[in-house]
Order: sequence, then structure tokens, then C-alpha cells
Amino acid sequence: MSLAHGIRTLGVLGAGQMGTGIALVSALRAKVPVLIHDRSPEQVKKGLSLVDKLLAKDVSKGRLTSDDAKDARDRIAVVDDLKGLRDVDMVVEAVSESLPLKQKIFASFAAELKPEAILATNTSSISITKIAAAAIPEGLSTASKEGQTIAGRVVGLHFFNPVPVMKLVELISALQTSEDTLNRSRAFAIACGKQVTTSKDVPGFVSNALLMPFINEAIMHLEKGIATREDIDTTLKLGMNHPMGPLQLADFIGLDTCLAIQKTLYEGTGDSKYRPSVLLERMVDAQWYGRKNGKGFYDYDN
Ligand code: 3HC
Repeated sequence: MSLAHGIRTLGVLGAGQMGTGIALVSALRAKVPVLIHDRSPEQVKKGLSLVDKLLAKDVSKGRLTSDDAKDARDRIAVVDDLKGLRDVDMVVEAVSESLPLKQKIFASFAAELKPEAILATNTSSISITKIAAAAIPEGLSTASKEGQTIAGRVVGLHFFNPVPVMKLVELISALQTSEDTLNRSRAFAIACGKQVTTSKDVPGFVSNALLMPFINEAIMHLEKGIATREDIDTTLKLGMNHPMGPLQLADFIGLDTCLAIQKTLYEGTGDSKYRPSVLLERMVDAQWYGRKNGKGFYDYDN
């Protein structure tokens, strides 16, 4: 095992689709022990049963021996709280897309985690620089050497859904991120079998600054009655060879997540081209979140 990344144990915070996928590729591809925490035991159960299912599928398709699958599964353990992550060399936060929630979590890392640990966030659009500032304990100057060292360990490590399938990780440097943090995070993503692109810390980075306006525009086409949902999706699938149409993709990502990212783009740039579609806002008002809860632009049998 290459230790260029120096990660002997990984912590993952959040056992949703993203956190579970990150835990799986880390245990299976990078072969590091993973400790996962989620405040919902139900969510952890659901996440681990998906891990079991995906490993069993790879075994049944002859891509993985049952011994390798068992070894990967044995590398994943659950911890009850942040204290359980105190010895990890890197933590990847993959909770929902809320700045106050992420700020609260990163503020607690300094007290709970060891001082050398890399603090990565899987945020899809929120400023890594703001999250890094929140990692500095209250009372310590953000300009002090110690404050800068803490913030220097924060980085954006943006995986894509479904994590085991998508080949990319987008690496985002906050203003404060150190070279060492960036290099080791890049090495870790590569060890997980991913290709890495880098982006500056701007709203949506590269991926979502380009993807979300595309999805939003598709929703506006539906809103204006220009075409049916099927015709919009089929146009992009068959006309442009996209694996999913934009409305299917919005349902797949989660409409609440799409709206949160679109708002970050709009508020972060002030540019009206990022204004979220009213239909997207209303669907989230109706709590139609897409695949995750069974209703979005399409209906799903969960
Ligand atoms: N987790 C793990 N693996 C999954 C999965 C999941 N949730 N869903 C599907 N897969 C795997 C299947 O098991 C199958 O694996 P196999 O080849 O080993 O059998 C493979 O993906 C193909 O699945 P299916 O045959 O069931 O279906 P499709 O061929 O239609 O592929 C898809 C499904 C891979 C999801 C494909 O439709 C696709 O690539 N869609 C686009 C996904 C995309 O754009 N993701 C990025 C979203 S944006 C993002 O994540 C950024 C965030 O910040 C918003």
C-alpha cells in the first residue's frame, strides 16, 4: 500500500449515499480502515446494507473474490460519536448541504480530532474558505500561526454520486489550505481509484457551476411548457449521449440538494443567470425531493 497520502485510518461523517460510497471506495480501493459516524443509527444501517449489497454484486460478477470483499467490509466500523474519530488521519465530512451545520461540525473537530488530521469536506458548492475559518477555535486569531495551521488542514474533496461508479474527485483549495494537505488529499483520492481535477474555491467550483445552471434551465423549459419531462430528458440522452436526462439527474441528486446548490451560486455571485427556477423551489416546498423520498419529476417505488 502506498502511504504517500499517509492515511492509516479514515473517518467519515455522514452515512448517506455519499458518505457510504466514500467509506466503500476507501476500504475497497485504498484499503484503509474506515470509521463511520452518523447521528442516525437507521441511516448507518441503511448505508451498511448498501455496502453489503454492492460488495456482493461485485463478487457475483466475478470482479472481486469473496475474501477481498470480506476484507473490505471488515475494514469498515461504526463509531457512536466524534470522539470515536480521535485517532483518524483524515476525516471526510459528508453531511447535508448546510453551511451552519458544517461550521458547527468543523468547529468541533479541533477539540475532538488529533491536531495533524486532514479535515476534508465533500460539500458540492459551499465555500471551503468559510468552512476552514470555522475550524479555528473561538478565541484563537485566524491570522495567528496556530490558527492558520488548523485552517491549512481543511480541503474540499468532492466525490460524485454514485461514488463507487463515478471516476472523478474534484479537489478544492481554500485560501488557507496548505500544500501538504492538498498533495496528500490528491494522493488519497487517487488511491481510491479516482481521477482528480482541481478547482479554486468559487461557488459550485467547476462541476456544479456548470451542471446546476444546465439542470435549472431544463426545469425552466418544463415550467414554460416547452416540452414534456420525457422529451426534455430524451433529447439530452439520445441527442447528446448523456447517461440520464437533466430532470432524471435532478431527481437522482435530490431536488433539495439541487436547490441548495443553485441558491449558493445565486447568492455567491449575485448573477441573475443563477436564479433558481420557481418550479424547483415549489417542488422543494412540497417536500418532493426526488428519488430519495419517492417523488420528484418522476415517481419512484422506494
Ligand atoms: N451506488 C453504487 N453503484 C450504483 C448505484 C449506486 N447508487 N446506482 C447504480 N450503480 C451501479 C450499478 O450497480 C451498475 O454496476 P455494474 O456495472 O457493476 O452492474 C452500474 O452502476 C450501472 O447501473 P445500472 O445498469 O443499474 O444503470 P445505468 O446503466 O443506467 O447507470 C448510473 C446508472 C451509473 C447512475 C448512470 O445513469 C449515470 O452515470 N448517471 C449519471 C450520474 C451522474 O451524473 N452523477 C453525478 C451527479 S452530480 C454529483 O454527484 C455532484 C453533486 O455535488 C451534486
